[in-house]
Amino acid sequence: VTGVDISATALERAAGHAQDAGVSARTQFERRDLSETFPAGQFDLICALYLHSPVAFPRDQVLRTAAAAVAPGGLLLVVEHASVAPWSCAAQGTVFAPPEQLRDALELRADQWQAVFVGAPERQLAGPGSQVATVKDNVLVFRRLTV
Ligand SMILES: C[S@@+](CC[C@H](N)C(=O)[O-])C[C@H]1O[C@@H](n2cnc3c(N)ncnc32)[C@H](O)[C@@H]1O
Repeated sequence: VTGVDISATALERAAGHAQDAGVSARTQFERRDLSETFPAGQFDLICALYLHSPVAFPRDQVLRTAAAAVAPGGLLLVVEHASVAPWSCAAQGTVFAPPEQLRDALELRADQWQAVFVGAPERQLAGPGSQVATVKDNVLVFRRLTV
C-alpha cells in the first residue's frame, strides 16, 4: 500500500495508524505534490479520499492521472465532501457539485471503465463537543475493464 500526501503531518499520522494496526511492513508513505508527480506503477485500487485543497490545485487532472494508474480489473474510488458540517471552518452554504460533474471531469471512456457507483450518500458524523450531524459525500467507484 502506498500512501501519498503533500503534508508531512498527514503522512506521519498515517504511518502511526499503520503501525498501530500492525501493517507497517506492507505500507509506504510518499510526500508528493500530486499536481507535479504521481507514484510510478499500476495499482489494483486507488483511493482519493477528500482530496481538497484551499489553494489552486488541478484536482481533476490529478484524478485523471490516478485513473490512468489503475491496473486492468482494478478500482478507482473517489470520495469528496458534498456538504459542510456545522462545525467546519469551511464556508457554510457552500454549494457542491453533484457527483456526476466529477464523473464527467474524469473523462473515463465507457468502453474501458464500468461505473460501479456514482452517488451522494449521507452519513452521521461526530464533531467536537458531542455534536453529531448528517453530512453528504460524493462517492464514485469505477472498475477498469480488462479489455
Ligand atoms: C481534507 S484532507 C483529507 C485527508 C485524508 N485523505 C483523509 O481522508 O482524512 C485533504 C488532504 O489533501 C492533501 N493535499 C492537498 N493538496 C495536495 C497536493 N497538491 N498533493 C498531495 N496532497 C494534497 C492535504 O495535505 C490534505 O491532507
